[in-house]
Amino acid sequence: MEKKYNVLVVDDEPEVLAILVALIQATGEEYNVIPAANAFEALKILHQTPIAFAFLDQNMAELSGLELLEHIRQRYQDVQVVIVTGQPSYSLVLSAWRHQAADFLSKPVGLKELQNVLVKLKIEKTVQTPNLTLRHQRCEKELMQGGHGQIGKLTREQRILCEILTSLAEVGQTDELYTKILQMALDLTNGTLAYFLLVDQDHRHLEPIASLGTGDLNPSLLKASRQVVQHQTSVFIKRQKNGDLSQEIERIGLAVPFRVRGELFGVLVVSHNPERNFDADDVLMLNLLAERASLIIENTALYESAVLKHYETLRALVNSLEARDPYSCQHSERVTQIALRFAQELSLPQEDLDAIRIAGLLHDIGKVGIRDAILLKPGKLNQEEQSIIRTHPLVGERIVEPLALLTPEKDIILHHHERWDGQGYPSQLAGKEIPFLSRILALADAYDAITSDRPYRGHRDQKAALTEILANAGSQFDPELTRPFVKIIETPPVSFQASNLLPHPPALRQNIGKLGKSVS
Ligand SMILES: [Fe+2]
Repeated sequence: MEKKYNVLVVDDEPEVLAILVALIQATGEEYNVIPAANAFEALKILHQTPIAFAFLDQNMAELSGLELLEHIRQRYQDVQVVIVTGQPSYSLVLSAWRHQAADFLSKPVGLKELQNVLVKLKIEKTVQTPNLTLRHQRCEKELMQGGHGQIGKLTREQRILCEILTSLAEVGQTDELYTKILQMALDLTNGTLAYFLLVDQDHRHLEPIASLGTGDLNPSLLKASRQVVQHQTSVFIKRQKNGDLSQEIERIGLAVPFRVRGELFGVLVVSHNPERNFDADDVLMLNLLAERASLIIENTALYESAVLKHYETLRALVNSLEARDPYSCQHSERVTQIALRFAQELSLPQEDLDAIRIAGLLHDIGKVGIRDAILLKPGKLNQEEQSIIRTHPLVGERIVEPLALLTPEKDIILHHHERWDGQGYPSQLAGKEIPFLSRILALADAYDAITSDRPYRGHRDQKAALTEILANAGSQFDPELTRPFVKIIETPPVSFQASNLLPHPPALRQNIGKLGKSVS
């Protein structure tokens, strides 16, 4: 088969470079894969050979992937660049996107993921208008050549494009992103009501996940959205003009498709009340918005799925850690269950329950660095061993760093061994200096420890455990929380159902399942 595309792969780790080259070659014979061991070698190749796609490792010694991307943008506009990294972060995704990276891959790169990206790159190269920058430049060129009739439209498109780039770049969370998209859709079209509907994989079901403006998702909006799903193109919402004998049709709204990697992902629908006639300009503007926002949604989903993978790895680590020790088997799940029950009885808000659910399961992750001889020692620990055990909250805090946990979640891991009297560790915080959720987890942690078998003693029953906890109110535990905790645990007896504890990693609170499908 003819080699249609020159693909440049740049990575300064020879093994990683060889794997990526082999994967791309395995994807299809149409790719002529050219490896480069560093950014400078890559620039030399770019100077000599017309490159269609470039895969750039982000963490390279001389020039990072993003710095190389900047060079490429200045000289070789046609090259579609994919940034590859082992440490994805939201800011990296945004920077890559700002420099018009075509896509973003996290290591280790899977064959399926790579195939999807290459398909997308090929479609963009051959079928669609290459990309917005190129379109933008072409528009500018036409403008320079004197297309005066189009000046208003082109400058507006440029202005809108600039607005979309800057305001979407500021968005940090998926739910904010949808609100921002809807707000921009209303601004762009002077609309009064906007909905974002998610399409399921079979294209059978539409689920509204965000709305803005006044009015309901009425049958005509729904009908137009279904037509978008059916025909995969923009659809006007039409209505016969009121009292008009000529039966003139008005376009009172517009629905446009949202695609992620070429797959229909959702529908954006906008309408205006009282009626306003939507025109081709609205179609252009909303599609421009959909195109840019889709890329952000996709990158966010990629980042979130990378975080999910990392969280699941850490959970597996905790499970294997606890499985080695018959005395602490499933300790983290039981502690989380107890703390959640207490928090629910205290009517704490959902974000606190989420924080306990996420961080409770990882609260002892720092023990992973402690030797078995200490961790599984049958007998009391000496002073040196105790000081090693006491490092686990700090070690845990460092281990969970890539998850970008929220402060209350990090606090649970870091401060679950602080004591009310200031004699705890690692920070010797006292009283209400100790974060509230850490005080809750400390109670649950102690209850489970007392009621579990230890190498040097058997477990104690619930009554004895609660008596001991009460006796330590005001010294070890928050006195205001201890009494309600004891009361809640007393009746009815706690039943531990580990299977109820599904992990909800940090960045995945909003729509991860829905977003995940588009990148899985
Ligand atoms: Fe602990």
